[in-house]
Amino acid sequence: MSLTHLNTALLCPTCGTGRLTRHARGELLCNACPHIVGSKNGIYALAPNAPDTQLDTDDYMNAHYPSEQSYKNLYSDLENLLQKVTPAGDIAHTLEVGSGSGAWTWGLSRDDRVKTLYASDISPGFLARLHETSGSPDTLILRAGGEDLAFAPGSLDLVLGRSVLHHIYDYRAVLRQIRTWLKPGGSAIFFEPNLQGKLWVAFYIEMIRQMDGALNDGGATLLKRRPNGLSHQTRKGMNGAMRHILKDFYHPEIDAIRPEIEDKYVFDINTLIADGKTAGFADVQYVDQEQDNGLALKRIRNSVLSVLGTDKDKIAQYEPLFDAFQATFGLSAQTTPISPMGYFVFRA
Ligand SMILES: C[S@@+](CC[C@H](N)C(=O)[O-])C[C@H]1O[C@@H](n2cnc3c(N)ncnc32)[C@H](O)[C@@H]1O
Ligand SMILES: [Zn+2]
Repeated sequence: MSLTHLNTALLCPTCGTGRLTRHARGELLCNACPHIVGSKNGIYALAPNAPDTQLDTDDYMNAHYPSEQSYKNLYSDLENLLQKVTPAGDIAHTLEVGSGSGAWTWGLSRDDRVKTLYASDISPGFLARLHETSGSPDTLILRAGGEDLAFAPGSLDLVLGRSVLHHIYDYRAVLRQIRTWLKPGGSAIFFEPNLQGKLWVAFYIEMIRQMDGALNDGGATLLKRRPNGLSHQTRKGMNGAMRHILKDFYHPEIDAIRPEIEDKYVFDINTLIADGKTAGFADVQYVDQEQDNGLALKRIRNSVLSVLGTDKDKIAQYEPLFDAFQATFGLSAQTTPISPMGYFVFRA
C-alpha cells in the first residue's frame, strides 16, 4: 500500500488538531491549517529546530553497525520479544522514536505486517543513514524529538525506542503522550539501561581498577613505569563510567545538569515501571535480554571492555574474574545478574 495522498496518523505541529496528509510532491500538508512540512532527501522536517545529538554519529554507527548483519541480529531479538508481546502480530501502524541509523527500523521497514512506519530522530547525521538503510514507500522518516511528536488518539499499534528514552529529559510526559496514541491493546517497547544491571558493570570496573593498582603499582614505583597497568586515560574513563552509572546518588547538582547531558538517566527498574503506570498504562513489565549460557556476564564483560578503550588487551589479566563468576552465578538463571540494558514493555 502506498502512502501517496493518504492521511497519516500524525497531527499538525502548528494547529495541533489537523491531520497531516502525504502528497505526491513529497510534502506533508495539514488538512485543517496552511502548515506544510517540507521534505528533503526523503526526510520530513517535522521539528526542524530539534537540537542535534551530542553523540559522534559516525563513531556510533561504525561501532554498532559495521554491517547489515548488525541490523538483522537486532531485529531477530526484537521479533522474539514481539512474539510474546503481540502474538497476533498487530503492528500495522508502528512508530520508532530515536531510530538512529535504523536500529529496528531496518527490520520493521521490511516486515510485511507493518503497513505504515513512522521513524523519527533528531540527528541529521543519523537520519541520512536511516534513509539509506530503511527508506521505503510506507516509511515516513521524520526529523523530530520524542517530545515533538503528536499522533491522533488511538492511531498506533506499536511504539518502540531502542536506547532513547533515557535521552529524553521529560520522558514521563512522552510516555503519557504515547499512551494516548496507542490503540487499546497496543504496546510500547523501550530498550533502556537499567540501574540494577549497570551496577554490576560499576562493580566490575571498581574491582578491575583496584586489582590494576595492586597488581601493577609495585612495578610503577620500582621501575617508574607500569608495564602491564592501565593507562591514566583508561583509569579516567573508568572513573567517568562509574560516575555516569551512579550520578543520581552522588552528584549534588544532578537535576540542574541533567537537561544538558546526553545520557540523562539510568533507570531504576521499579521507578520506570511506576512511571509507566502513572502515565496510564495498564501493565508495565521489565523483560531482560536472553540469559542463557551466561550471556548476562558476557554483556557485563563487553560493557567493561568498552570503557577500557585502547587498553582492551589488558582485560586478559582479569579474565579469572569473569570466569569465576561464570562458574558460579552464571550457571543458573536465578543467580545470573540482570543485563545492563533490557526491555520495558508498556501495555495500553
Ligand atoms: C544511543 S542512540 C540509539 C540509536 C538507535 N535507536 C540505536 O539503537 O542504534 C540514542 C538516539 O536517540 C536520539 N535522541 C536523542 N535525544 C532524543 C530526543 N529527545 N528525541 C528523540 N530521539 C532522541 C539520538 O539522536 C540517537 O539516535
Ligand atoms: Zn494544522
